[in-house]
Amino acid sequence: MKNLNKIYKLDKKIVLAPMAGITDGDFCKNYTDLFGITCIGAFNLDSKTDIASKSILKRGRKEFIYDLEDLSEKIVLEIKKAKESKSLVSVNVRFDDFLAAKKTLVQISKYADIIEINCHCRQEEITNLNLGQNLLKLENNLKLKEILTQIDNLNLKTPIFLKIRANFVNFEELTDSLNNVKDYFEGIHIDCFNPKKNYPDLDYLKKVWENFNEKIIIGNNSVNSIESAKKMIEYCDFVSVARSVISKNIEWIYEFNKLMSETKK
Ligand SMILES: Cc1cc2nc3c(=O)[nH]c(=O)nc-3n(C[C@H](O)[C@H](O)[C@H](O)COP(=O)(O)O)c2cc1C
Repeated sequence: MKNLNKIYKLDKKIVLAPMAGITDGDFCKNYTDLFGITCIGAFNLDSKTDIASKSILKRGRKEFIYDLEDLSEKIVLEIKKAKESKSLVSVNVRFDDFLAAKKTLVQISKYADIIEINCHCRQEEITNLNLGQNLLKLENNLKLKEILTQIDNLNLKTPIFLKIRANFVNFEELTDSLNNVKDYFEGIHIDCFNPKKNYPDLDYLKKVWENFNEKIIIGNNSVNSIESAKKMIEYCDFVSVARSVISKNIEWIYEFNKLMSETKK
């Protein structure tokens, strides 16, 4: 049985979204009592994604590069630090080789509240491995299924979420892909990416919300105010934020938390 109760019970509905090279334990522990869930990572769990990440870093993007030798211990430390924020902790991961990733996944599951499989990254070095957002393509569905069934066989208590990007594949393709693997994950964290627009695609989110209503849904993209969070939460259980936190625009989150707890009363 997956441990979902503590997620359903959360009063705080805002989630800190993962940002490679930024959201580690030290960053997250600064935000005490602010987020319901804090996502750390993305972390690379095998040598292929580690090499990809190193070349992404070379062209100037921030990444988390950890020695694969003591990766489990390092990530556990990051989880423990992130927990100082008093939120639940979700760990965003990428890997190609399950056997190489297995030990770390098991260790993560002992400390984290959610394991988030990265089906979102659009960096070429990752998509060339048919990972990240490429896992959403129907042609790569067997690969996604293999990853998820292998994790499922570990019988971890930690819920599995998929971090996905809207509009990389159309909604029909996404539905086909996710329906084929729906027994192996509990939540969808969706960046409502809206090509060439600076606002989220709430229609896409609404369809995901309606079609996967048994899943926990975290909506994401361009939320930076009480108003934008209110609009998004109509179609999801939680709303996540990344760039708003980077730009230190967080006062509204305290207000939003207050508002949510008052409406509950
Ligand atoms: C610098 C940066 C790094 C990111 N790294 C990751 C990552 O490692 N894994 C992931 O799933 N999403 C990553 N994202 C995407 C964010 O989690 C989020 O989906 C995106 O920024 C849209 O949300 P926002 O409009 O609140 O920023 C990253 C975003 C930024 C800005």
